[in-house]
Amino acid sequence: MTETTGLVVRAFRDADEPTVTELWNRVFGYPAARNAADRVIEQKRKVQPELFLVAELAGDVVGTTIAGDDGHRGWVHLVAVSPDHRGRGIGRTLVLDAAARLRERGVPKLNLQVRGDNPGVVAFYESLGFEVEDRISLGLLLGDDG
Ligand SMILES: CC(C)(COP(=O)(O)OP(=O)(O)OC[C@H]1O[C@@H](n2cnc3c(N)ncnc32)[C@H](O)[C@@H]1OP(=O)(O)O)[C@@H](O)C(=O)NCCC(=O)NCCS
Repeated sequence: MTETTGLVVRAFRDADEPTVTELWNRVFGYPAARNAADRVIEQKRKVQPELFLVAELAGDVVGTTIAGDDGHRGWVHLVAVSPDHRGRGIGRTLVLDAAARLRERGVPKLNLQVRGDNPGVVAFYESLGFEVEDRISLGLLLGDDG
């Protein structure tokens, strides 16, 4: 893997919103209203905004992740790297940076979910040290678009 010189991981800023929105729409394109970029960004501005991370390269935002913790477990969501910049260690840097920030907060374990239609990405996380665990993932919709 190539390390990308000049890559900076930093907290999201308001000026990043158009680029982040475009990136998520391009990479994920989730149809549910609860996953719309503007809604997610608005929510994350209010809760642990310092764990909304972007990867910046030569002044451009090229990757994201949203991390958070409840004190007992950390989570990462929306790990995305621009298709034009993949395979250069940016995803790795983002996830490991989020893990380091969670560790500094005293969180003992980081979890994440991979959608069943995206199994190829498991190898990416395994290369970072994650292990597939024997768990069943459940969710309960609490909002208005269930
Ligand atoms: C997954 C993703 C974030 C990886 O970003 P990236 O910057 O290309 O990854 P890196 O260059 O840091 O790769 C790190 C390691 O993972 C491996 N890897 C990356 N993507 C992989 C994939 N899809 N399948 C298998 N291995 C992968 C790389 O080969 C590299 O391994 P190495 O260190 O042995 O060379 C990026 O492909 C992406 O945005 N995908 C679409 C969104 C997505 O699926 N996000 C995850 C949701 S759970």
